[in-house]
This record gives sequence, C-alpha cells and structure tokens, in this order.
Amino acid sequence: MTARPVRIGIVGGGLMGRELAVVCGRWPQLVDHPCAPEVVAVADPNPAALDWFRRIGSVRTFTDDWHVLLDDPDIDVLYLAVPHNLHEDLYVAVADAGRDFLGEKPFGIDLAAAQRIVAAVDASTAFVRVSSEMPFFPGAQRAYAYAASGALGDILDVRSQFAHSSDIDRSKGINWKRRVETCGAIGVMGDLGMHVAHLPLRLGFQPETVYAMLDNVVTERPGPDGAPVPCDTWDNALLALRVPTGVSPQDRRFSMLWETRRISPGNMNSWSFEAVGMDGGVRFTTRNPTVVHRFVRRDGEQVWEEFQPGNVSAWPMVSGGIFEFGFADALLQMWASYLAEREGQLGDRFGTATPHEALSSHRVFDAALRSNGSGAAEPLS
Ligand SMILES: NC(=O)c1ccc[n+]([C@@H]2O[C@H](COP(=O)([O-])OP(=O)(O)OC[C@H]3O[C@@H](n4cnc5c(N)ncnc54)[C@H](O)[C@@H]3O)[C@@H](O)[C@H]2O)c1
Repeated sequence: MTARPVRIGIVGGGLMGRELAVVCGRWPQLVDHPCAPEVVAVADPNPAALDWFRRIGSVRTFTDDWHVLLDDPDIDVLYLAVPHNLHEDLYVAVADAGRDFLGEKPFGIDLAAAQRIVAAVDASTAFVRVSSEMPFFPGAQRAYAYAASGALGDILDVRSQFAHSSDIDRSKGINWKRRVETCGAIGVMGDLGMHVAHLPLRLGFQPETVYAMLDNVVTERPGPDGAPVPCDTWDNALLALRVPTGVSPQDRRFSMLWETRRISPGNMNSWSFEAVGMDGGVRFTTRNPTVVHRFVRRDGEQVWEEFQPGNVSAWPMVSGGIFEFGFADALLQMWASYLAEREGQLGDRFGTATPHEALSSHRVFDAALRSNGSGAAEPLS
C-alpha cells in the first residue's frame, strides 16, 4: 500500500509541539499505516520555540502568526498545542475554516469555551479529535477491551487516576499552567482531567452527580524576578461520581473516582485505571506498565491474576511484540489512530478522544467547581 502524505502544521511549538515532531520522525515504526505524516510548518510567538524546529528538515514555514498556517492550502492537518486561554479563539477559527485538527486537551479553558468550540466543530466539515494518549498503552487497551466485553458483570466500582509530582518543589517557578487566567479555574483537572475521563466515558460510564474535594496546596511561587506571585490553581482534585447503570434496578448507581494530582509524593507520571464488577475486574497502571491484573472467580476462589499484554497497541508496529512500551509510543499510537480514522481506515481499532468526550469531561469539571463551593454533590449542568 502506498502511504498518503499528510502535511502537518503545528500551532504552539512548546513541549507537546516538539513531541509531535519526534513522533513523525519515527513513523516507519508503524506497519502498513495508510499515511505518511511530516511536519511542514510551525507557528509560535517565541523565537526560541521556533528555532528548535530548524533541526526538522521537513519544516519550511516558521511564523509567529498561526493565521499563516490556517491560510496555507498545502497544510492538511493542524496540531493545536497552546495554553488553555488561547484554545477557544484558535479552535473555533480552525473549525470554521473547515480545517482538520487534533486539539490538545482540555479543549477550552472552561465549560462555556468547550461548548462554543464543540458547536463550531459540529457545524464544520473538519475531522477533529482531542489529544489523550495514555489509553494507548497496551495494558490500558487490554483493560478497556476486558471492561467493554461485559465480563465484569454488574459494575461496582471504577477508579481512574493521573498522579505526578511536578509541583512538589515549592521553589519551582510560576508558569501559565499554575494560573487561573491562563490554565483555567479547573486547574489540575484541565491539565490531567481528560486523561482520566477518556476510558470511563468511552465505556459509557456517564456520571450524573459529582462530589469534589479540590486542594490548592502551594499558593505562591517565584515569579520571573524571584519574588513570590500568586499560584491560584487547584493542585489536586478528587472527584466522587455517581453513575447510573441504566439496567434493573433502575435506581441503582455505581461509584466512580476520578483523581488528578500535581502533588502526589512518589508518583512521577502514573496513569491508572481500574474497574470491578460482580463477575470480574481489571486493573492497569503505567507505574508497572508490562502487566495487567484481572479479577476472576474460579473454583470458589477470588483470584487477581496477572498477565503481560506485550507490545500490542492500536496499530501494529515493527518493534517486537515482547519489547517494552512507553510514553512516546503512546503518542505515536494516538497519532496513528487519529490519521487512520481521518483516512477512514481505523476499522475496529481504538479511536482518539472525541470533542463530545472532551465536552462531557468539562461538564464534570464544572460540576466539581460548584461542588467544592457548596460542599455538596452537584448534578452535571
Ligand atoms: N497530551 C499530553 O500529554 C499533554 C502534556 C502536556 C501538555 N498538554 C497540553 O498541550 C497544550 C500545550 O501545553 P505544553 O505543555 O506544550 O505547553 P508549552 O508552554 O510547553 O508550549 C506552549 C507553546 O505555545 C506557544 N504559544 C503561546 N501563544 C501562542 C500563539 N498565540 N500562537 C502559537 N503559539 C503560541 C508558547 O510560546 C509555547 O511555546 C495544553 O493544552 C496542554 O494542556 C498535553
């Protein structure tokens, strides 16, 4: 099969923009993928950010103005990876122009912004998806497939967690992710929330109420001149959700926890998913990514058994099936999924998060802010 070239323009050449450039460089790792992406343009007002891309031979446009990329007919797909306060104007303009894009989470700084973005996407012909790569770990794929198979029986308990300790050092300087103005009032939920929402929402676990405990631990950080400035975003968020089962008895709800933490001592970048039901259960964490745990009842015993999923994600890879998988592989797989789906060739493979999943996550985060204020469980609006 001849792979179709896909020319990508990056808006926001920071941490995630650079990650995509590297993903495209190792594209031959995928077997028989229908696309051959290359980064051809980058827009960023920071000259140092632009300069990094001079090492990527395929990049021919370097600009401080993203409109240049929007107007370029030789760009097929845009990757939007900018601070949250810029999402709405950018995403709406790109959707209105009918240009395909993968947009970084949280897909708008708040619920109202997400609603306007998703309305623009719905009214557009553009193929749009939302970045969320952790479910592409092989163990996460197996956990999802097991939970989706119905093997769990009546669901009892779901836990989804993303925990790191990027903010455990009080002397770390302020940046846009630590300010309500640029990150959003949802704070850590805007940073990590889509990651914990993706699998539960894909499984149809749609919460109806939220009880939230939000914690702003570090309230000041050194500014550019070293003097302390307010650090006003939530560091940690624990959301207790009630989820209707939709089956008899009709009033039964199960419990689900979504946990996002920037300060979780001992965790560097741990994404975990667990779902347990009357007949079975499954557990996976990137702390221990080569194994999946599965609960079964066998011969009168309750057994948590362990198996190794190997190196098998959504799209086949050149790398051996026994080799270890990591964060960069998850990004490669997410992009493989996005571009294959855009090409109509995803088949029954796992798809990238959708704009409506991002909107559902925002509805939960909005109710969480209300719950934290009222001290009571709040319904989704
Ligand atoms: N999927 C993930 O795992 C993951 C990880 C980190 C961040 N993110 C998301 O990616 C997005 C970007 O985060 P980041 O960590 O790359 O941030 P970053 O600060 O490293 O990079 C953002 C870049 O955007 C640039 N920028 C600012 N204004 C711009 C404009 N008007 N036009 C073009 N570029 C502009 C900045 O100069 C900077 O280089 C956010 O939405 C964030 O939530 C996702």
